[in-house]
Amino acid sequence: MTTLLDTPQQASRWCQRQRDTGKSIGYVPTMGALHDGHLSLVRRSVSENDITCVSIFINPLQFNNPEDLESYPRSMESDLVMLQEAGCDMVYTGSLETFFPDQTSSLENSVPVEPVKLRGLEADCRPGHLEGVKAIVERLFATVGQCSAYFGEKDFQQTLLVKDIANRHGEIDVVVCPTVRETSGLAMSSRNQRLSTAALELASCLYQALVEADNAWRQGERNPLRLEQLMQDKLDRPGIEIEYATVRDPLNWTIDTPTHLNDSAQALIAAYIDGVRLIDNLALGSCGCSES
Ligand code: PAF
Repeated sequence: MTTLLDTPQQASRWCQRQRDTGKSIGYVPTMGALHDGHLSLVRRSVSENDITCVSIFINPLQFNNPEDLESYPRSMESDLVMLQEAGCDMVYTGSLETFFPDQTSSLENSVPVEPVKLRGLEADCRPGHLEGVKAIVERLFATVGQCSAYFGEKDFQQTLLVKDIANRHGEIDVVVCPTVRETSGLAMSSRNQRLSTAALELASCLYQALVEADNAWRQGERNPLRLEQLMQDKLDRPGIEIEYATVRDPLNWTIDTPTHLNDSAQALIAAYIDGVRLIDNLALGSCGCSES
């Protein structure tokens, strides 16, 4: 039976009790509206740890757009059923006040991270978003304490940021897990629920554009601008509004497109379809597919 707790304070005590009995904790932070992508993280945590806990909290600090926050899908009851079935031991929620009893919505007093991690792409398109993620992730990590924390690769910049936070925190081992996709290639996302059938079909172009870049990379293309152009051409369809379709060296994050790429490259896309903002990314050379 999954234990449901209403505050981070209760969750913190629960996690400490588990550690006191020698149990290892796996932790999956979420904002709810769970799909197979989240459940893959939970299942991995269940297979690698004695105890798995999940948080469900829609963090207002990371929404730069009030309408996006308002329309973010919420499905607590079915989330709990899915988590129970996936073998989750504890779920906790909370409010802004219980997560930040000392400073409500202020982002002050947080651990410094490498400033470049808070810049470029998502930082430019969603001002304040990464700072909001940073503020809540610090609280989530402080709540659960020593654990392995599981994150999906779909939010690529977020994974860079949380690894940085975890390094400074010292007790958290961040495990980044592959993006789970629909059969069309579309990355699973809670936001997909807001897409019409036609928009869902169109949205698979994001993955196709990443695969296009991947194919070119495999054929030896290393020019960032040409890789970008290939993706932009693929996304040049009525109904798709591109925010960025670009490449970065994942080991050396830069705010702007790098002038050249060596051994590693991450292709990243953000686009609006049907008014819904979607993101996706792919490590070039890693995709097991070769279709265009
Ligand atoms: O990836 C998410 O769902 C959120 O950004 C997270 C990590 C739960 C923080 O609110």
